[in-house]
Amino acid sequence: MTVNDIDVATHRVALSFEDGVTRFVTCREDQTVADASYRQRINIPLDCRDGACGTCKAFCESGRYDGGTYIDDALSQDEADRGFVLPCSMRPRSDLVLQVASTSEVAKTRATTYAGTLVGLERLSRTTVEIAVEIPNRGELAFLPGQYVNIAVPGTDVSRSYSFSNAPHEERLTFLVKLTPGGAMSTYLDERAAVGDALSFTGPNGSFFLRETDRPVLLLAGGTGLAPVLSMVRTLSAASSERHAHLVYGVSTDEDLVALDQIERAAAGLANLTWDHCVADPDSTAANKGYVTSLFGPEHLHDGDVAIYLCGPPPMVEAVRTHVSQGGVEPTGFYYEKFALAAPAADAGSTAGAPESSEPDRPNPPEPEPDPEELLPAPGARAIAGQTILPAADTLPWAGPRPAADDGGSARRIVKQVVFGPSEVSAGPTDDGYQIGEEHPDVQSSDAVFEARQALELGALELTIGRLGSQQLAGYRLLAESTLPYVRGDRFLDAQAYTEANAAFHDYLFAQTRNAHLLQAYQALGVKGRMEEALRTATWCHPRCATDHVEIVEAFEAGDRDRARRLIADHAERSKLTMRRAMAGTSRSTRPAHVSPGRFDDTLVVVTGAAQGIGAQVARRIGAEGGLLVLADRSELVAEVADELRADGHEALAVTCDLETWQGAEELTRR
Ligand code: FES
Repeated sequence: MTVNDIDVATHRVALSFEDGVTRFVTCREDQTVADASYRQRINIPLDCRDGACGTCKAFCESGRYDGGTYIDDALSQDEADRGFVLPCSMRPRSDLVLQVASTSEVAKTRATTYAGTLVGLERLSRTTVEIAVEIPNRGELAFLPGQYVNIAVPGTDVSRSYSFSNAPHEERLTFLVKLTPGGAMSTYLDERAAVGDALSFTGPNGSFFLRETDRPVLLLAGGTGLAPVLSMVRTLSAASSERHAHLVYGVSTDEDLVALDQIERAAAGLANLTWDHCVADPDSTAANKGYVTSLFGPEHLHDGDVAIYLCGPPPMVEAVRTHVSQGGVEPTGFYYEKFALAAPAADAGSTAGAPESSEPDRPNPPEPEPDPEELLPAPGARAIAGQTILPAADTLPWAGPRPAADDGGSARRIVKQVVFGPSEVSAGPTDDGYQIGEEHPDVQSSDAVFEARQALELGALELTIGRLGSQQLAGYRLLAESTLPYVRGDRFLDAQAYTEANAAFHDYLFAQTRNAHLLQAYQALGVKGRMEEALRTATWCHPRCATDHVEIVEAFEAGDRDRARRLIADHAERSKLTMRRAMAGTSRSTRPAHVSPGRFDDTLVVVTGAAQGIGAQVARRIGAEGGLLVLADRSELVAEVADELRADGHEALAVTCDLETWQGAEELTRR
């Protein structure tokens, strides 16, 4: 047993699953075992969370506990006597060992496998094939434009990664395959494939997808990297988007140039989309010979107010990154997915976007895979599908230790964040008129992180809403409600505990997408680390931050997509405001070093001599601890102290008076 900092004992609970796996969680005596498990990312079976359904029933092998309240239908007296328990109701009184009626796999995020049929097989050029697949349960497959799946190559035990080229709403699933002699998929398509073949795939995967904003977008596709970009354009077209967009498609040789008619059709309905293509081979008959970097300019970069999406080989990613950076532009977002050809034919280079000095048919570096493949990810390629949030944290000053990725070093390795350089942009006023008075890179960086979280969450929403079962929704609600006890009104009662509970809540939705990349992309933003740093001494919290969580879950329970989207966007704004105020407060050297939140809640406190020195500092501390302040001083400077405290969200009234006189005391009493 341990005792934590607010004197609540905690115990270790061993959760022994049916498949022999045992996981441990730490549970406070005032917490249910289910609550502790979910917060520590272990999804034990759950439904009513209220001792009414019996879904969570487990067997307690050892330990003492308070069984809590429940109805007989959920757990009979006989069962309770024999040691059965309901983790949603029970609270530990010692370390426990529980047998959970489930396997440990339920807590994991696993992509789904779909079985379908090859319904289309078209050779678009000597080097490129388009395949079409239909699955009987198409309604169960949700994906985001830009994501990919792993297709099992029939007759082999290998699978290869391909991005959807169709839009998510389209029934027929299409993919572009670059052929490489000797490649598993190439050999299958060349020699054995026939319409009607059974084909299965697993996914969707990846965090490279089109984020929903109105910001202009620059879409860059290299070779068969056109597929995810086509999916994005088709999605924009289906929405009759007015978003400004420019697409550049680059290939190595004329033979690689495919699907121009598809781009033409997808772009036809988009008034604000322009596009062009180029071929690197100097002997090409194309109008534009060269690389994608030659076909976009400042007019497409909108002074940095642009999101760049790039899918292509590694040299293309590096070339574009360098080109944009050297142009002095810091794009708001830079999202990329790299792929490379493992063993390209001599005439099938992959340097569509490489610098001019490169040979267009330069072979790629050797890959570690023994089996050559047509669209084999570069070393870590899919795994480094990345995104850049600018200004990037790596180059910006950040008070205190650098916030780490939330899930250890692996997250940053997996979701690569690249850096264009720092930017200082004045933080504008928020909806309620709050505005900090200075340009502050940390604030801007914090805003960017929460905007990135919002974009990812909207993607996760599309993948999950209407698809979560009652147990998943129950877990989601439990985590939402677990954030409530740490906020009262607009005051943090325990900012650190709130940050923990908040992180578990936001993690959960990404985990439910069954797409580990999305969860990793979210964790790599380091939201939790930033919150821990900024909120360490914070007392103010937007009064709806915690209740937003519950309302978001309600929208999911109702299947109300529009409401859930609105709430997620509003919640991001309220989170940004909370962080801004916390950072503004932290930056003041006058801030009390130690506060006990709530100590003076609803208490009227008169502080005399409050204009400066000890009096002012006492006033700041009492304000931070919830007191309603009347600040008295002979000096009119007391008004400035009151202004400062009100700006921090505290209630403070300044009274200029001399308390050594009867009139002064009367004035104070009157006010
Ligand atoms: S009784 Fe525990 S989830 Fe219903």
